[in-house]
Amino acid sequence: MSRNEQRPPATTTGAGAPAPSDRDSLTIGPDGPIVLHDVHFLEQMAHFNREKVIERQPHAKGAGAFGIFETTADVSRYTRAALFQPGTKTDLLIRFSTVAGEMGSPDTWRDVRGFSLKFYTSEGNYDLVGNNTPIFFVRDPMKFPHFIRSQKRLPDSGLRDNHMQWDFWTHNPESAHQVTYLMGPRGLPRTWRHMNGYGSHTYMWINDAGERFWVKYHFHTRQGMAFFSNAEAMEMAGRDADFHRRDLFDAIARGEHPQWTLSVQVMPYEDAKTYRINPFDLTKVWPHADYPLIEVGVMTLDRNPENFFAQVEQAAFSPGNTVPGIGLSPDKMLLGRAFAYNDAQRNRIGANFHQLPVNQPKVPVNSYLFDGPMAYHHSGAAPVYAPNSGGRPWAESSGTADDGWEADGAMVRSAYVLRADDDDFSQPGVLVREVFTEAERGALVEQVAGSLLGGVRSPVLERAFEYWKNIDPDVGARIERKVRTDGAREPAAGMGES
Ligand code: HEM
Repeated sequence: MSRNEQRPPATTTGAGAPAPSDRDSLTIGPDGPIVLHDVHFLEQMAHFNREKVIERQPHAKGAGAFGIFETTADVSRYTRAALFQPGTKTDLLIRFSTVAGEMGSPDTWRDVRGFSLKFYTSEGNYDLVGNNTPIFFVRDPMKFPHFIRSQKRLPDSGLRDNHMQWDFWTHNPESAHQVTYLMGPRGLPRTWRHMNGYGSHTYMWINDAGERFWVKYHFHTRQGMAFFSNAEAMEMAGRDADFHRRDLFDAIARGEHPQWTLSVQVMPYEDAKTYRINPFDLTKVWPHADYPLIEVGVMTLDRNPENFFAQVEQAAFSPGNTVPGIGLSPDKMLLGRAFAYNDAQRNRIGANFHQLPVNQPKVPVNSYLFDGPMAYHHSGAAPVYAPNSGGRPWAESSGTADDGWEADGAMVRSAYVLRADDDDFSQPGVLVREVFTEAERGALVEQVAGSLLGGVRSPVLERAFEYWKNIDPDVGARIERKVRTDGAREPAAGMGES
């Protein structure tokens, strides 16, 4: 080829110079050794070794999409947050996930699903990092790492293990509500489009007058809820491990933009002090008869990521990312989470993860976080300390925090003080008896018995029977009967994931 001949656009090295070849390394003669100064080859090899980031500790397998949230109702009497003012439209990112499985695990294994939202609001990023269930397994963050490890893999064989899962759950009876959800139909959503999402925790909303309210978020799918049976989910896990990821991506690409209606339950601030259930206990729901749903707006997912790594793997959500008009609550789990996520992200994607494009707020950032690895935003020669005489502003609020609450007492390590209706088994009992149909109760018995038959040994097995009898005596007895009959017929099998 002559020098003047038209060439296709050249690839470049990382430094932007034309790359010599993406096919042949530089050698001494066609059969000779590769020379050390083939910088382009060495860059390819070295970068390839570094092109993965570690997976999220929980919620490793997932996918996401972009969309918009439109506030269609007027909830300004409860919150002054800009994104929830009538008519406001806010860009958002969502990531759905499973909890226990690793990056390549099947989407349709029975599990809770993550429902993470990042709203790019005009007052900074607001993250709501919830699940497809309104409750959780434990109510003290000290237990969280133990819980996750019990759902993951054995230290010796590297296998998942039913015995370990039930050992943890039965040692922590507050898990009963979430376990009932998990073992029921919601443990196998048909697609991400066909499931609800919940903020799960209680959060605070603050209005213009400084009045505070406690809120719980509910995203109801407009596609209708749909579930897989065990058999369908197992078959799909074998046929297409990425079924949920594919379903969402293909639906959006086809122009079918899934939608959810956001409603909130609102509890007046003072009610929390005397409500019969501790409103900050993450294992409990607030009955709708006490606090009905109030509609807020609509979420539409209308844009697929252009690059999975940049926009999904590098996405960093944190329940600690709040905006004016929204606060946390005395839920100990939520307070523990407020630390955990950004710390995980410093480790997973680097100290300057806020600067990655998908995490960048759509408002100017003026922070006193400086430098560090891969920093590419800076504030020039402006002062790096506060207060300063160089004209660079600094934040300076003092006095009562408008998103705070009263706290008093000696330092203790203690469970929440129980209120009148604070027991671990009533709400899951209602779920089993009043929400599940007879067919769903039957499927629950089959599912739990199948799981217990998958290698759960004494004394965990007997504790599991008690656990279910505490939830519902009849369902508990049916589970025990089935395990004893089927167990006598065939030896314990290995764990079935569904
Ligand atoms: C104290 C309790 C908890 C701790 C310490 C904790 C910690 C974590 C950590 C470290 C990650 C990985 C973050 C990352 O690498 O980017 C994560 C992910 C996640 N957690 Fe939690 N978690 C807790 C409870 C919960 C609860 C109660 C929920 C739901 C109500 C939840 C939902 C999620 C979701 C959806 C993700 C995935 C985030 C994403 O899509 O990137 N977690 N959690």
